[in-house]
Amino acid sequence: MNVEIPEKEIREKLSLFGQDHILKYLEIISPDEQKALLKDVSEIDFEQLLARYQSYLRTLTAPPEKKVFDAADILAPPFSTSVYSRGEDYLRRGSVGIFLVAGGQGTRLGVKGPKGCYPVSPVRQKSLFQLFAESIRALQRRYETRFSWYIMTSRENHEDTCGFFRRNNFFGLSSDQIRFIVQREIPSLDRDGKLILSPEKLVFKNPDGHGGSIRALRESGALEDMRQKGIEEIFYFQVDNPLAKIADPLFIGAHVEHHAEMSTKVVKKTDPSEKVGIIGKINGRLGCIEYSELTPEEIQGRKADGTLRFSSANSAIHLIRRSFVETLTSTNNFSLPYHSALKDIECLTEKEGLLVPDIVKGLKFEMFIFDALGFTKNSVAMEVSREEEFSPVKNRAGVDSPETAQHAMINLYTRWLKESGKISQIPAGLIMEVSPLYALDAAEFREKFNPPSSLSSPLYLGP
Ligand code: UTP
Repeated sequence: MNVEIPEKEIREKLSLFGQDHILKYLEIISPDEQKALLKDVSEIDFEQLLARYQSYLRTLTAPPEKKVFDAADILAPPFSTSVYSRGEDYLRRGSVGIFLVAGGQGTRLGVKGPKGCYPVSPVRQKSLFQLFAESIRALQRRYETRFSWYIMTSRENHEDTCGFFRRNNFFGLSSDQIRFIVQREIPSLDRDGKLILSPEKLVFKNPDGHGGSIRALRESGALEDMRQKGIEEIFYFQVDNPLAKIADPLFIGAHVEHHAEMSTKVVKKTDPSEKVGIIGKINGRLGCIEYSELTPEEIQGRKADGTLRFSSANSAIHLIRRSFVETLTSTNNFSLPYHSALKDIECLTEKEGLLVPDIVKGLKFEMFIFDALGFTKNSVAMEVSREEEFSPVKNRAGVDSPETAQHAMINLYTRWLKESGKISQIPAGLIMEVSPLYALDAAEFREKFNPPSSLSSPLYLGP
Protein backbone atom coordinates (compact mmCIF):
# COMPACT_ATOMS: atom_id res chain seq x y z
CA MET A 1 0.00 0.00 0.00
CA ASN A 2 1.36 3.39 -0.95
CA VAL A 3 0.65 5.77 1.91
CA GLU A 4 0.72 9.42 0.97
CA ILE A 5 3.18 11.39 3.13
CA PRO A 6 1.69 14.70 4.32
CA GLU A 7 4.66 16.69 3.07
CA LYS A 8 3.41 20.14 3.98
CA GLU A 9 2.69 19.05 7.53
CA ILE A 10 6.13 17.48 7.90
CA ARG A 11 7.86 20.58 6.63
CA GLU A 12 5.91 22.72 9.08
CA LYS A 13 6.80 20.40 11.93
CA LEU A 14 10.47 20.56 11.02
CA SER A 15 10.31 24.35 11.16
CA LEU A 16 8.31 24.39 14.37
CA PHE A 17 10.82 22.16 16.13
CA GLY A 18 13.88 24.09 14.95
CA GLN A 19 14.96 21.50 12.38
CA ASP A 20 15.07 23.84 9.35
CA HIS A 21 18.45 22.47 8.29
CA ILE A 22 16.62 19.31 7.13
CA LEU A 23 14.56 21.50 4.79
CA LYS A 24 17.81 22.72 3.31
CA TYR A 25 19.02 19.13 2.85
CA LEU A 26 15.76 18.28 1.09
CA GLU A 27 16.56 20.87 -1.55
CA ILE A 28 19.86 19.28 -2.53
CA ILE A 29 18.96 15.61 -2.69
CA SER A 30 17.22 13.66 -5.45
CA PRO A 31 13.40 13.25 -5.53
CA ASP A 32 13.69 9.59 -4.41
CA GLU A 33 15.98 10.55 -1.55
CA GLN A 34 13.58 13.33 -0.59
CA LYS A 35 10.74 10.86 -0.40
CA ALA A 36 12.73 8.49 1.80
CA LEU A 37 13.90 11.27 4.11
CA LEU A 38 10.41 12.74 4.44
CA LYS A 39 9.02 9.32 5.30
CA ASP A 40 11.72 8.89 7.92
CA VAL A 41 10.95 12.31 9.42
CA SER A 42 7.21 11.60 9.38
CA GLU A 43 7.78 8.76 11.87
CA ILE A 44 9.44 10.99 14.47
CA ASP A 45 7.57 11.92 17.60
CA PHE A 46 8.87 15.49 17.88
CA GLU A 47 7.38 16.16 21.31
CA GLN A 48 9.25 13.19 22.73
CA LEU A 49 12.39 14.15 20.85
CA LEU A 50 12.27 17.59 22.42
CA ALA A 51 11.57 16.17 25.87
CA ARG A 52 14.65 13.93 25.59
CA TYR A 53 16.81 16.86 24.52
CA GLN A 54 15.50 19.09 27.30
CA SER A 55 16.21 16.43 29.85
CA TYR A 56 19.78 16.22 28.49
CA LEU A 57 20.11 20.01 28.83
CA ARG A 58 18.94 19.80 32.43
CA THR A 59 21.79 17.39 33.19
CA LEU A 60 24.19 20.15 32.03
CA THR A 61 22.74 23.03 33.96
CA ALA A 62 20.78 21.79 36.96
CA PRO A 63 22.69 20.50 39.98
CA PRO A 64 22.71 16.69 39.96
CA GLU A 65 19.57 15.17 41.46
CA LYS A 66 20.20 14.24 45.09
CA LYS A 67 19.98 10.50 45.36
CA VAL A 68 20.25 8.36 48.44
CA PHE A 69 21.96 5.04 47.81
CA ASP A 70 21.65 1.98 49.92
CA ALA A 71 22.72 -1.63 49.65
CA ALA A 72 20.09 -4.10 48.43
CA ASP A 73 19.22 -7.35 50.18
CA ILE A 74 21.19 -10.06 48.48
CA LEU A 75 20.21 -13.69 48.40
CA ALA A 76 23.29 -15.85 48.83
CA PRO A 77 23.93 -19.60 49.20
CA PRO A 78 23.22 -22.05 50.71
CA PHE A 79 19.86 -22.65 49.01
CA SER A 80 17.55 -25.47 49.87
CA THR A 81 17.23 -28.20 47.26
CA SER A 82 13.52 -27.41 47.00
CA VAL A 83 14.38 -24.07 45.37
CA TYR A 84 16.33 -25.88 42.66
CA SER A 85 13.56 -28.45 42.14
CA ARG A 86 10.98 -25.71 41.84
CA GLY A 87 13.02 -24.13 39.05
CA GLU A 88 13.43 -27.50 37.36
CA ASP A 89 9.65 -27.99 37.42
CA TYR A 90 9.23 -24.69 35.61
CA LEU A 91 11.69 -25.80 32.97
CA ARG A 92 10.17 -29.25 32.52
CA ARG A 93 6.70 -27.89 31.97
CA GLY A 94 7.83 -25.31 29.43
CA SER A 95 7.04 -22.24 31.52
CA VAL A 96 10.32 -20.46 30.77
CA GLY A 97 11.18 -18.61 27.57
CA ILE A 98 14.71 -17.60 26.67
CA PHE A 99 15.40 -14.04 25.64
CA LEU A 100 18.75 -12.87 24.32
CA VAL A 101 19.39 -9.21 23.59
CA ALA A 102 21.86 -8.85 20.77
CA GLY A 103 21.03 -5.53 19.17
CA GLY A 104 24.03 -3.58 20.46
CA GLN A 105 26.65 -2.00 18.25
CA GLY A 106 29.72 -3.51 19.92
CA THR A 107 31.76 -0.37 19.28
CA ARG A 108 34.26 -1.11 22.04
CA LEU A 109 35.00 -4.58 20.67
CA GLY A 110 35.36 -3.00 17.28
CA VAL A 111 34.67 -5.96 15.00
CA LYS A 112 32.37 -5.87 12.01
CA GLY A 113 29.03 -7.62 12.23
CA PRO A 114 26.91 -8.85 15.14
CA LYS A 115 28.82 -9.48 18.37
CA GLY A 116 27.11 -12.86 18.75
CA CYS A 117 29.09 -14.13 15.72
CA TYR A 118 32.37 -13.44 17.50
CA PRO A 119 34.47 -16.64 17.69
CA VAL A 120 35.03 -16.76 21.42
CA SER A 121 35.56 -20.32 22.64
CA PRO A 122 39.17 -21.24 23.44
CA VAL A 123 39.68 -24.37 21.32
CA ARG A 124 37.03 -24.57 18.61
CA GLN A 125 36.51 -20.82 18.33
CA LYS A 126 32.78 -21.28 18.51
CA SER A 127 30.71 -18.14 18.29
CA LEU A 128 28.75 -16.78 21.24
CA PHE A 129 25.53 -17.68 19.38
CA GLN A 130 26.70 -21.28 18.93
CA LEU A 131 27.61 -21.66 22.61
CA PHE A 132 24.16 -20.41 23.64
CA ALA A 133 22.42 -22.67 21.11
CA GLU A 134 24.34 -25.69 22.41
CA SER A 135 23.39 -24.82 25.99
CA ILE A 136 19.74 -24.63 24.98
CA ARG A 137 19.97 -28.01 23.22
CA ALA A 138 21.59 -29.50 26.32
CA LEU A 139 18.83 -28.08 28.52
CA GLN A 140 16.20 -29.49 26.19
CA ARG A 141 17.78 -32.91 26.51
CA ARG A 142 17.98 -32.62 30.28
CA TYR A 143 14.43 -31.41 30.82
CA GLU A 144 12.79 -33.19 27.89
CA THR A 145 11.22 -30.03 26.64
CA ARG A 146 11.51 -27.56 23.80
CA PHE A 147 12.43 -23.97 24.48
CA SER A 148 11.34 -20.90 22.59
CA TRP A 149 14.30 -18.63 22.03
CA TYR A 150 13.67 -14.95 21.31
CA ILE A 151 16.61 -12.95 20.01
CA MET A 152 16.51 -9.17 19.86
CA THR A 153 18.46 -7.62 17.03
CA SER A 154 18.68 -4.08 15.67
CA ARG A 155 17.94 -2.82 12.16
CA GLU A 156 21.68 -2.66 11.60
CA ASN A 157 22.52 -6.26 12.49
CA HIS A 158 19.23 -8.08 11.90
CA GLU A 159 19.96 -9.50 8.45
CA ASP A 160 23.49 -10.52 9.37
CA THR A 161 22.27 -12.22 12.54
CA CYS A 162 19.48 -14.15 10.80
CA GLY A 163 21.86 -15.06 7.97
CA PHE A 164 24.43 -16.39 10.43
CA PHE A 165 21.85 -18.67 12.05
CA ARG A 166 20.53 -19.83 8.67
CA ARG A 167 24.00 -20.61 7.32
CA ASN A 168 24.71 -22.64 10.44
CA ASN A 169 21.40 -24.51 10.35
CA PHE A 170 20.33 -22.83 13.56
CA PHE A 171 23.08 -24.71 15.35
CA GLY A 172 20.97 -27.84 15.60
CA LEU A 173 17.88 -26.11 16.93
CA SER A 174 14.73 -25.99 14.88
CA SER A 175 14.23 -22.74 12.96
CA ASP A 176 10.67 -22.44 14.24
CA GLN A 177 11.72 -22.29 17.86
CA ILE A 178 13.85 -19.19 17.29
CA ARG A 179 12.18 -15.85 16.78
CA PHE A 180 14.17 -12.75 15.88
CA ILE A 181 12.67 -9.46 16.97
CA VAL A 182 13.98 -6.08 15.91
CA GLN A 183 14.27 -3.29 18.45
CA ARG A 184 13.26 0.29 17.72
CA GLU A 185 15.66 3.06 16.83
CA ILE A 186 15.71 6.59 18.19
CA PRO A 187 16.93 9.70 16.34
CA SER A 188 20.24 10.94 17.69
CA LEU A 189 20.77 14.69 18.03
CA ASP A 190 23.75 16.95 17.84
CA ARG A 191 24.63 19.03 20.89
CA ASP A 192 22.34 21.81 19.69
CA GLY A 193 19.38 19.47 19.52
CA LYS A 194 19.45 19.17 15.72
CA LEU A 195 18.69 15.98 13.81
CA ILE A 196 21.69 14.42 12.09
CA LEU A 197 21.74 13.23 8.47
CA SER A 198 23.07 9.67 8.09
CA PRO A 199 25.46 8.69 5.27
CA GLU A 200 22.38 7.08 3.59
CA LYS A 201 20.69 10.50 3.61
CA LEU A 202 18.17 9.44 6.23
CA VAL A 203 17.69 10.56 9.82
CA PHE A 204 20.57 9.18 11.88
CA LYS A 205 19.22 6.86 14.57
CA ASN A 206 20.63 4.53 17.18
CA PRO A 207 19.11 1.36 18.67
CA ASP A 208 17.03 2.27 21.72
CA GLY A 209 19.19 0.38 24.22
CA HIS A 210 18.76 -2.99 25.94
CA GLY A 211 15.88 -1.41 27.84
CA GLY A 212 14.13 -1.15 24.48
CA SER A 213 13.67 -4.92 24.78
CA ILE A 214 10.65 -4.43 27.03
CA ARG A 215 8.61 -2.68 24.36
CA ALA A 216 10.16 -4.77 21.57
CA LEU A 217 8.67 -7.85 23.22
CA ARG A 218 5.23 -6.25 23.04
CA GLU A 219 5.51 -4.61 19.61
CA SER A 220 6.93 -7.68 17.88
CA GLY A 221 4.16 -9.95 19.12
CA ALA A 222 6.69 -12.05 21.08
CA LEU A 223 4.86 -11.34 24.33
CA GLU A 224 1.60 -12.63 22.90
CA ASP A 225 3.42 -15.64 21.48
CA MET A 226 4.77 -16.36 24.97
CA ARG A 227 1.31 -16.10 26.46
CA GLN A 228 -0.07 -18.56 23.93
CA LYS A 229 2.76 -20.98 24.64
CA GLY A 230 2.22 -20.85 28.39
CA ILE A 231 5.54 -19.12 29.07
CA GLU A 232 5.35 -17.43 32.45
CA GLU A 233 8.94 -16.40 33.07
CA ILE A 234 11.42 -14.83 30.68
CA PHE A 235 15.09 -15.61 31.12
CA TYR A 236 16.88 -12.46 29.89
CA PHE A 237 20.60 -12.38 29.10
CA GLN A 238 23.03 -10.39 27.01
CA VAL A 239 25.02 -11.57 24.06
CA ASP A 240 28.46 -10.75 25.41
CA ASN A 241 28.65 -13.22 28.30
CA PRO A 242 29.77 -16.69 27.18
CA LEU A 243 29.47 -17.99 30.76
CA ALA A 244 25.79 -17.10 31.14
CA LYS A 245 24.06 -20.06 32.79
CA ILE A 246 20.97 -20.07 30.64
CA ALA A 247 17.69 -20.71 32.48
CA ASP A 248 19.44 -21.66 35.72
CA PRO A 249 16.90 -23.64 37.80
CA LEU A 250 18.19 -22.22 41.07
CA PHE A 251 17.63 -18.67 39.89
CA ILE A 252 14.19 -19.54 38.54
CA GLY A 253 13.26 -21.28 41.80
CA ALA A 254 14.37 -18.33 43.95
CA HIS A 255 12.61 -15.81 41.70
CA VAL A 256 9.35 -17.74 41.73
CA GLU A 257 9.46 -18.45 45.46
CA HIS A 258 9.77 -14.75 46.20
CA HIS A 259 6.92 -13.85 43.82
CA ALA A 260 9.37 -11.58 42.07
CA GLU A 261 8.43 -9.64 38.96
CA MET A 262 12.01 -9.14 37.90
CA SER A 263 15.19 -10.57 39.42
CA THR A 264 18.90 -10.13 38.88
CA LYS A 265 22.02 -12.20 39.29
CA VAL A 266 24.84 -10.27 40.88
CA VAL A 267 28.54 -11.06 41.24
CA LYS A 268 31.00 -9.69 43.76
CA LYS A 269 33.02 -6.71 42.58
CA THR A 270 36.61 -7.70 41.79
CA ASP A 271 37.83 -4.73 43.84
CA PRO A 272 36.22 -1.55 45.17
CA SER A 273 37.29 0.53 42.19
CA GLU A 274 35.93 -1.81 39.51
CA LYS A 275 33.84 0.31 37.14
CA VAL A 276 30.58 -1.65 37.20
CA GLY A 277 26.96 -0.88 37.97
CA ILE A 278 25.85 -1.93 41.44
CA ILE A 279 22.48 -3.45 42.20
CA GLY A 280 21.26 -1.43 45.15
CA LYS A 281 18.59 0.96 46.29
CA ILE A 282 18.18 4.42 44.80
CA ASN A 283 15.94 6.63 46.94
CA GLY A 284 14.52 3.45 48.44
CA ARG A 285 13.75 1.76 45.12
CA LEU A 286 15.71 -1.09 43.60
CA GLY A 287 17.92 -0.15 40.67
CA CYS A 288 21.38 -0.11 39.26
CA ILE A 289 23.71 2.49 40.71
CA GLU A 290 26.16 3.66 38.09
CA TYR A 291 29.79 3.59 39.16
CA SER A 292 30.12 7.31 38.48
CA GLU A 293 27.24 8.12 40.83
CA LEU A 294 29.01 6.89 43.95
CA THR A 295 31.35 9.15 45.90
CA PRO A 296 34.87 7.84 46.68
CA GLU A 297 33.69 7.33 50.28
CA GLU A 298 30.70 5.29 49.16
CA ILE A 299 32.87 3.23 46.83
CA GLN A 300 35.19 2.31 49.70
CA GLY A 301 32.41 2.12 52.34
CA ARG A 302 32.24 -1.04 54.42
CA LYS A 303 29.58 -2.76 56.52
CA ALA A 304 30.04 -3.64 60.19
CA ASP A 305 31.37 -7.08 59.18
CA GLY A 306 34.10 -5.44 57.09
CA THR A 307 32.67 -6.36 53.68
CA LEU A 308 32.08 -3.73 51.00
CA ARG A 309 28.73 -1.98 51.25
CA PHE A 310 28.28 -1.63 47.48
CA SER A 311 29.76 -4.86 46.19
CA SER A 312 26.98 -6.47 44.18
CA ALA A 313 27.89 -5.94 40.55
CA ASN A 314 25.11 -6.21 38.01
CA SER A 315 25.61 -9.21 35.72
CA ALA A 316 22.73 -8.17 33.44
CA ILE A 317 21.15 -11.61 33.83
CA HIS A 318 17.49 -11.33 34.73
CA LEU A 319 14.32 -13.25 35.12
CA ILE A 320 11.28 -11.25 34.16
CA ARG A 321 7.72 -12.34 34.71
CA ARG A 322 5.77 -12.20 31.47
CA SER A 323 2.76 -10.61 33.14
CA PHE A 324 5.04 -7.86 34.49
CA VAL A 325 6.07 -6.93 30.94
CA GLU A 326 2.42 -7.05 29.90
CA THR A 327 1.49 -4.62 32.66
CA LEU A 328 4.38 -2.28 31.95
CA THR A 329 3.59 -2.10 28.28
CA SER A 330 -0.17 -1.93 28.61
CA THR A 331 -0.16 1.86 28.32
CA ASN A 332 0.53 3.47 24.97
CA ASN A 333 4.04 4.70 24.42
CA PHE A 334 5.54 3.03 27.48
CA SER A 335 9.21 3.78 27.87
CA LEU A 336 11.84 3.46 30.54
CA PRO A 337 13.86 6.61 31.31
CA TYR A 338 16.28 7.66 28.60
CA HIS A 339 20.01 7.97 29.26
CA SER A 340 22.09 10.04 26.89
CA ALA A 341 25.72 9.65 25.85
CA LEU A 342 27.87 11.78 23.58
CA LYS A 343 29.46 9.75 20.79
CA ASP A 344 31.21 10.44 17.49
CA ILE A 345 28.72 10.02 14.69
CA GLU A 346 29.56 9.63 11.01
CA CYS A 347 27.14 11.73 9.04
CA LEU A 348 26.58 14.15 6.17
CA THR A 349 26.54 17.90 6.58
CA GLU A 350 25.99 20.70 4.15
CA LYS A 351 28.90 22.80 2.89
CA GLU A 352 28.47 25.35 0.13
CA GLY A 353 25.32 23.72 -1.15
CA LEU A 354 26.73 20.20 -1.12
CA LEU A 355 26.40 17.30 1.29
CA VAL A 356 29.80 16.19 2.52
CA PRO A 357 30.88 13.39 4.91
CA ASP A 358 31.55 14.62 8.42
CA ILE A 359 31.85 13.42 12.02
CA VAL A 360 29.89 15.20 14.72
CA LYS A 361 29.60 14.74 18.45
CA GLY A 362 26.08 13.47 18.81
CA LEU A 363 23.73 12.46 21.57
CA LYS A 364 22.57 8.87 21.54
CA PHE A 365 19.55 8.12 23.69
CA GLU A 366 19.13 4.68 25.20
CA MET A 367 16.98 2.88 27.74
CA PHE A 368 18.53 0.45 30.20
CA ILE A 369 16.81 -2.78 31.20
CA PHE A 370 17.75 -2.45 34.87
CA ASP A 371 15.52 0.62 35.17
CA ALA A 372 12.58 -1.78 35.01
CA LEU A 373 13.64 -2.99 38.49
CA GLY A 374 12.27 0.25 39.90
CA PHE A 375 8.75 -0.83 38.86
CA THR A 376 8.82 -4.09 40.81
CA LYS A 377 7.11 -4.83 44.11
CA ASN A 378 9.16 -7.98 44.67
CA SER A 379 12.57 -8.73 43.33
CA VAL A 380 15.42 -11.13 44.02
CA ALA A 381 19.07 -10.18 43.71
CA MET A 382 20.94 -13.46 43.83
CA GLU A 383 24.67 -13.64 44.25
CA VAL A 384 26.47 -16.14 42.03
CA SER A 385 30.09 -16.97 41.40
CA ARG A 386 31.73 -14.66 38.91
CA GLU A 387 34.19 -17.40 37.93
CA GLU A 388 31.32 -19.65 36.93
CA GLU A 389 28.86 -17.27 35.38
CA PHE A 390 30.19 -13.91 34.29
CA SER A 391 32.92 -12.87 31.91
CA PRO A 392 31.62 -10.37 29.39
CA VAL A 393 33.32 -9.54 26.11
CA LYS A 394 33.18 -5.76 25.93
CA ASN A 395 36.58 -4.47 24.86
CA ARG A 396 39.04 -5.40 22.15
CA ALA A 397 41.82 -5.98 24.74
CA GLY A 398 42.46 -5.70 28.48
CA VAL A 399 39.62 -6.13 30.96
CA ASP A 400 36.42 -7.77 29.74
CA SER A 401 37.92 -8.76 26.43
CA PRO A 402 37.93 -11.98 24.35
CA GLU A 403 41.18 -12.89 26.07
CA THR A 404 39.78 -12.63 29.62
CA ALA A 405 36.63 -14.51 28.55
CA GLN A 406 38.73 -17.35 27.11
CA HIS A 407 40.76 -17.53 30.29
CA ALA A 408 37.58 -17.65 32.32
CA MET A 409 36.26 -20.52 30.20
CA ILE A 410 39.53 -22.45 30.43
CA ASN A 411 39.67 -21.91 34.21
CA LEU A 412 36.11 -23.10 34.65
CA TYR A 413 36.58 -26.28 32.62
CA THR A 414 39.90 -27.14 34.25
CA ARG A 415 38.21 -26.70 37.62
CA TRP A 416 35.57 -29.22 36.55
CA LEU A 417 38.38 -31.53 35.49
CA LYS A 418 40.13 -31.17 38.83
CA GLU A 419 36.90 -31.58 40.81
CA SER A 420 36.03 -34.74 38.92
CA GLY A 421 38.85 -36.36 40.86
CA LYS A 422 39.63 -38.52 37.84
CA ILE A 423 42.93 -36.89 36.89
CA SER A 424 45.88 -36.88 39.25
CA GLN A 425 47.85 -34.15 37.50
CA ILE A 426 46.56 -31.48 35.16
CA PRO A 427 49.22 -30.40 32.65
CA ALA A 428 50.34 -26.82 33.22
CA GLY A 429 48.88 -24.38 30.71
CA LEU A 430 46.21 -26.82 29.55
CA ILE A 431 43.89 -25.19 27.03
CA MET A 432 40.55 -26.81 27.36
CA GLU A 433 36.99 -26.46 26.12
CA VAL A 434 33.87 -28.35 27.07
CA SER A 435 30.84 -28.16 24.82
CA PRO A 436 27.59 -27.53 26.73
CA LEU A 437 26.39 -30.64 24.88
CA TYR A 438 29.04 -32.64 26.72
CA ALA A 439 28.37 -31.15 30.15
CA LEU A 440 26.45 -28.17 31.43
CA ASP A 441 28.01 -28.20 34.88
CA ALA A 442 30.59 -29.82 37.13
CA ALA A 443 28.23 -32.61 38.22
CA GLU A 444 27.43 -33.66 34.66
CA PHE A 445 31.10 -33.45 33.78
CA ARG A 446 32.06 -35.74 36.65
CA GLU A 447 29.51 -38.29 35.56
CA LYS A 448 30.56 -38.31 31.92
CA PHE A 449 34.27 -37.79 31.93
CA ASN A 450 36.32 -40.79 30.98
CA PRO A 451 39.97 -39.90 31.43
CA PRO A 452 42.11 -40.65 28.38
CA SER A 453 45.44 -42.43 28.86
CA SER A 454 47.24 -39.12 28.38
CA LEU A 455 45.96 -35.57 28.44
CA SER A 456 47.30 -33.23 25.82
CA SER A 457 46.57 -29.63 25.11
CA PRO A 458 44.36 -28.36 23.53
CA LEU A 459 41.64 -30.61 24.90
CA TYR A 460 38.14 -30.44 23.46
CA LEU A 461 35.27 -32.42 24.89
CA GLY A 462 32.23 -32.36 22.68
CA PRO A 463 29.05 -34.31 21.97
P1 UTP B 1 26.44 -2.84 25.78
O1 UTP B 1 25.94 -1.88 26.75
O2 UTP B 1 27.71 -3.53 26.10
O3 UTP B 1 26.51 -2.16 24.37
O4 UTP B 1 25.32 -3.92 25.56
P2 UTP B 1 27.04 -2.66 22.97
O5 UTP B 1 26.33 -1.83 21.97
O6 UTP B 1 26.93 -4.15 22.78
O7 UTP B 1 28.59 -2.34 22.98
P3 UTP B 1 29.31 -0.90 22.91
O8 UTP B 1 28.86 -0.14 24.11
O9 UTP B 1 28.90 -0.28 21.60
O10 UTP B 1 30.77 -1.26 22.93
C1 UTP B 1 25.00 -4.90 26.49
C2 UTP B 1 24.02 -5.86 25.84
O11 UTP B 1 22.85 -5.18 25.44
C3 UTP B 1 22.61 -5.39 24.06
C4 UTP B 1 23.95 -5.76 23.48
O12 UTP B 1 23.79 -6.48 22.28
C5 UTP B 1 24.54 -6.58 24.60
O13 UTP B 1 23.99 -7.87 24.58
N1 UTP B 1 22.06 -4.16 23.48
C6 UTP B 1 22.64 -2.96 23.74
C7 UTP B 1 20.96 -4.25 22.67
O14 UTP B 1 20.43 -5.36 22.42
N2 UTP B 1 20.47 -3.11 22.12
C8 UTP B 1 21.00 -1.90 22.37
O15 UTP B 1 20.48 -0.90 21.85
C9 UTP B 1 22.11 -1.81 23.20
